[in-house]
Amino acid sequence: MPRKVNHGLDYDEDYDAYDDYDDYDYDYGADGNDYENDNGMQGDGNSSQQGTKVSRPRIWQCSICTYDNDESSLSCEICGIIRDCSANFDNNDKDKAIDMSKSSEASIMGKSNLTQVPSAPLQTEITSVGFPSKKASKSFGKASRDVEDATKSLASNLDHLKLNNNTMNSKKAPSRTPYKSEKWMFQDQEQGILSQLNLAIVGHVDSGKSTLSGRLLYLLGRISKREMHKYEKGAKEMGKGSFAYAWAMDESYEERERGITMTVAVAYFDSKKYRIVLLDSPGHKDFVPNMISGATQADAAVLVVDASVGSFEAGMDGNGVGQTREHAQLIRSFGVEQIIVAVNKMDMVGYSKERFNFIKLQLSSFLRSRGFKDSSVTWIPISAMENQNLVEAASDVRFSGWYQGLCLLDAIDSLQPPLRDFSKPLILPICDVIKSQSMGQVAACGKLETGAIRHGSKVLVMPSGDLATVRSIERDSSTCSVARAGDNVAVSLQGIDSGLVMPGGVLCHPDFPVRVATRLELKILVLDNAAPILIGSQVEFHIHHAKEAARVVKILSLLDQKTGQVSRMAPRILKAKQSAVIEVALDGAVCVEEYSKCRALGRAFLRSSGSTIAVGVVTRVPEPDL
Ligand code: GTP
Ligand code: MG
Repeated sequence: MPRKVNHGLDYDEDYDAYDDYDDYDYDYGADGNDYENDNGMQGDGNSSQQGTKVSRPRIWQCSICTYDNDESSLSCEICGIIRDCSANFDNNDKDKAIDMSKSSEASIMGKSNLTQVPSAPLQTEITSVGFPSKKASKSFGKASRDVEDATKSLASNLDHLKLNNNTMNSKKAPSRTPYKSEKWMFQDQEQGILSQLNLAIVGHVDSGKSTLSGRLLYLLGRISKREMHKYEKGAKEMGKGSFAYAWAMDESYEERERGITMTVAVAYFDSKKYRIVLLDSPGHKDFVPNMISGATQADAAVLVVDASVGSFEAGMDGNGVGQTREHAQLIRSFGVEQIIVAVNKMDMVGYSKERFNFIKLQLSSFLRSRGFKDSSVTWIPISAMENQNLVEAASDVRFSGWYQGLCLLDAIDSLQPPLRDFSKPLILPICDVIKSQSMGQVAACGKLETGAIRHGSKVLVMPSGDLATVRSIERDSSTCSVARAGDNVAVSLQGIDSGLVMPGGVLCHPDFPVRVATRLELKILVLDNAAPILIGSQVEFHIHHAKEAARVVKILSLLDQKTGQVSRMAPRILKAKQSAVIEVALDGAVCVEEYSKCRALGRAFLRSSGSTIAVGVVTRVPEPDL
């Protein structure tokens, strides 16, 4: 019954882009921190405001994600970065911020400049790309020689902020009249229909995500006894009896044989308050890109942690193999603020209160450091295998003796409803495309970020810029007439060549096209334990929602965070925990928006050698040359 979403990456190991680094790796300062303003603590343009009394609303803009934070927040609500101590502060605030940045609970971004990171040998190689272009790969291969030229031309490009015509394919100019929503777009709210909540199930490999998901679906009647019996029998025959519930989610032979989830499974159930779209993610390190495709659609997440001794610790491993850490970091960078930490396999530790508290203590300080507020994290001990504390209170006395809190289903119902922006023009990032060759039909799948569509709506298909008409909409496997912000849908289109509808693209309002670019300015944070990132190198670039949104990106240069200009004095290497503004050139156009204008299309992250190495936001999309 779950729908599998095939977000697997295409692997292409032909790239040999890193051959020429040696010429380029000249020594720039012992710690790589000589680049001015590289600590991420400088508010953009703040210096000009110093000493001026401001009568604007009391907000400050995060220098990483540009979110407008309330004056009272000392760290960014979105990404957790500590507020700039040098601008717009009175002395008390400054002291508080400095104290915070020194405390263990402070954001790593805030502490980035306080930390000396030992040099590590550069180990970068491209492991996967979405649209491998041999031509592009060759030209990128001479990375180091090109970089000086690129830096020079970039400096002038930035002055003019021009892109060539190819970067903006929309055949329609954006409307100058403000967007007006229509009455039908809001109808369901009035009727009091259950609101949809997209819930990603994430966490380290084997923590029990699929078992938990399958068990929930069974308990809530979405899987029949007969089906369950079939899974039990099949799993036993394969010698994997303990995976019976996971089989409900892991549908492919390979997944079942290997006992791991490889692609995201989508399933549905209703709680008292929500229509839940459950996105069961793979936990294995190799499938993080697939996890990302599902998790970018999430409104909230259940982070499943294995309580067994050694397993929790493995998930917290900081050497790039602990997916409890990586998943938590990633979902936060996608804007997920509310999480439930399901401490699973409590049966393996005798339902020990001490073990639960130990895990809570360890993980909560990590989550805090990644920008999760304590008030947005709910801790629920469970056993998916023994059906303890899932949809009703625990029955095992070893458990109920000390735990009388919420069960998992009630915790899900306690999540705050996500804000839905019906009043903005349509944006539906396409994460998957279904084509029927015989009938010549094409359907785009994804979550509506903003706006609404209905049967007959005209939509602009980006990046091609061609118009199409909505022929039908499918939600939760049944046809519906209208879909609104927050809904996961498959939209069947007519009047368009199916080849123009592609994952990574976007359906948008004909008068309000999203932007398409091959060059971007990003503000990034290099993650803990990431190998150093060399300016001039190529890595894998992911923007938002689909595997094909993965592109080879060449990091052209570091920019001065204040002026946005290329700094000739900038270091050539970015190390773990550093933040920086970079200019990148992609080997193919992507649909993007500046984060300050559209969060869903403004988040990006970089991966290399199978690990996420940096997260960031799009700070500037150069205007096209019209
Ligand atoms: P990936 O998707 O590959 O990351 O794994 P997963 O997190 O989905 O784990 P999965 O549900 O496949 O379960 C992995 C193993 O853990 C299976 O053998 C399950 O039977 C076992 N398991 C899951 N939940 C529990 C639990 O509550 N207690 C015990 N003892 N075992 C569990
Ligand atoms: Mg699984």
